Amino acid sequence: MEQISLSVNGRSTAVEIEPNESLNHVLRERLGLTGTKRGCDTGGCGSCTVLLDGKAVYSCMTYAMQVAGRDVLTIEGLQDEAGLAPIQRAFVEKGGLQCGFCTPGFVMSAYALLLSKSNPSEGEIKDALAGNICRCTGYVKIIESVKAAAELRREDSRWTRAIEHRSSTALSKIERVTDSAKLGAP
Ligand code: FES
Ligand code: FES
Repeated sequence: MEQISLSVNGRSTAVEIEPNESLNHVLRERLGLTGTKRGCDTGGCGSCTVLLDGKAVYSCMTYAMQVAGRDVLTIEGLQDEAGLAPIQRAFVEKGGLQCGFCTPGFVMSAYALLLSKSNPSEGEIKDALAGNICRCTGYVKIIESVKAAAELRREDSRWTRAIEHRSSTALSKIERVTDSAKLGAP
């Protein structure tokens, strides 16, 4: 075992890891951050996507050793005390999710895109999400969600967190878009 230090969702974190351990395993099993999913575990589905120094990466294909001293952002890091992040709100309002298993990965890939581009074209959105697979939605509403998130980003240059209006029907979607329902947790 070896100890590494890193930033996870803005907090300095020290964690003991095995040399061959994936970032996905560390996030889920050692830090309890199960919003980051483990689907294929072989770099083929995108459900494990997180941001590493602002870029989207597959956490299943990233050795924990590689992230020492670096900045990791997971789905749990988007929401704050004011409510859902705008990108999460966009997925809820546009219906960009059904079962929700793939959703944290899509949200993080889209978030990485919008960090670098305020007004991506549909082609750029599709390219950014090409590494993410959804078995439920058919992708149309996911694309619409990212376009809506881009609009929110442009409206507010600070891209501040929005307070979610919690209707009873939105609650289950909120659980899925934040993974508070712990979907796929072992
Ligand atoms: S679990 Fe990482 S790409 Fe599928
Ligand atoms: S919403 Fe079910 S896999 Fe995408």
